[in-house]
Amino acid sequence: MPRLPPWLLRQANYHSPNLAALLPACRDLQSARHELRWIAQHVAKTAQAQDGEHLAQLCQQRGRGVPLQYILGSQPFGHLEVKCRPGVLIPRPETEAYTCHLVDLIKTGRLLGRDSGHGNHGLNIVDFCTGTGCIPLLLFSSLQQSISRLNVLGVDIAGEAVQLAQENIGQNKKLGHIRQLNVGQSLQISRGDVFNDGDIQALIGRPWDILISNPPYISKQVWDHGHGQLGYSVRKYEPRLALVPNNQHPVPAGWKHEDVFYSRLLDIAGVLQPKVVLLELGDEAQARRVLGCYSQHASAEDLAVELWRDWPDLNPDGEDGQFDVMTPSGRGWTVPVKGSGQIRCIFIRRRGE
Ligand SMILES: C[S@@+](CC[C@H](N)C(=O)[O-])C[C@H]1O[C@@H](n2cnc3c(N)ncnc32)[C@H](O)[C@@H]1O
Repeated sequence: MPRLPPWLLRQANYHSPNLAALLPACRDLQSARHELRWIAQHVAKTAQAQDGEHLAQLCQQRGRGVPLQYILGSQPFGHLEVKCRPGVLIPRPETEAYTCHLVDLIKTGRLLGRDSGHGNHGLNIVDFCTGTGCIPLLLFSSLQQSISRLNVLGVDIAGEAVQLAQENIGQNKKLGHIRQLNVGQSLQISRGDVFNDGDIQALIGRPWDILISNPPYISKQVWDHGHGQLGYSVRKYEPRLALVPNNQHPVPAGWKHEDVFYSRLLDIAGVLQPKVVLLELGDEAQARRVLGCYSQHASAEDLAVELWRDWPDLNPDGEDGQFDVMTPSGRGWTVPVKGSGQIRCIFIRRRGE
């Protein structure tokens, strides 16, 4: 990262020391001005006793790299306002984009047919590794008016995440983004471990339609040395548990440690038998590895697989395409890719759905 020129700091300081304090994180005056306005509005709203001093402290924290969302205490996610605080991962725009795309596919009947959610069982969605609850909350609030029997469950191992996701339900009900639930609708967050057989068995017997997850997928090397996917601020301020698979998880033969959640989630899909599985991943290399291993999976033959890019509903000319994977057995496999940006998700559905 280039150093900040002294003239820029002097110029910012001339306007206000708070603007200068924000520059190391914001890098240019325009972004610093925007952030200063948002932080000042936040301080005014929270009515702290020593407003001026508090504003200066927050600007200094932000300048040291504390994420803006932890300072403001929230992040927009679709039409929701999602509370954020240290210890729980901040929702990302790419996660919002594929969640919105999934909503669109459901509402237009392109995912599960026009009658989805109107049968006896309704529509049942489980989100593993739910964090702030951003994914289940956005799915629920976007679908609750069109699907009368809608059940959405978010699961996370971390007590802080479960607590925050539950607060987020309350906050978004208060803001009117989540309406009164009908009889036959539920939106729940529960504590559970993807790797605990008992926690998964407790979910068997419900007719799951969609399994979605943004699991930890960063390697220990990237976390320790920072290059590529992860900046300094993420490693310093966001929770490792949310990003890097734990050392204790068993790694099946042929899989890499950073991909271990995909192996487990695909096994869970084999048990819960959802019609659709949507898994966020880190990059093209991870997609290649996961698809390669997945091609060996017992259920792979009966399923149709796609990759989605960061913005799955944007298709500028030439970006939609195909992705060639070499399976461990040496067989070639071509997977369709949709959208624009970097490879972001694996989307799997039962053939004929
Ligand atoms: C990448 S974050 C995703 C959070 C949220 N879904 C989002 O997209 O912003 C991964 C989440 O997985 C949770 N997690 C880590 N290990 C887990 C496990 N074994 N079982 C369930 N959740 C786990 C972490 O607490 C964290 O909240």
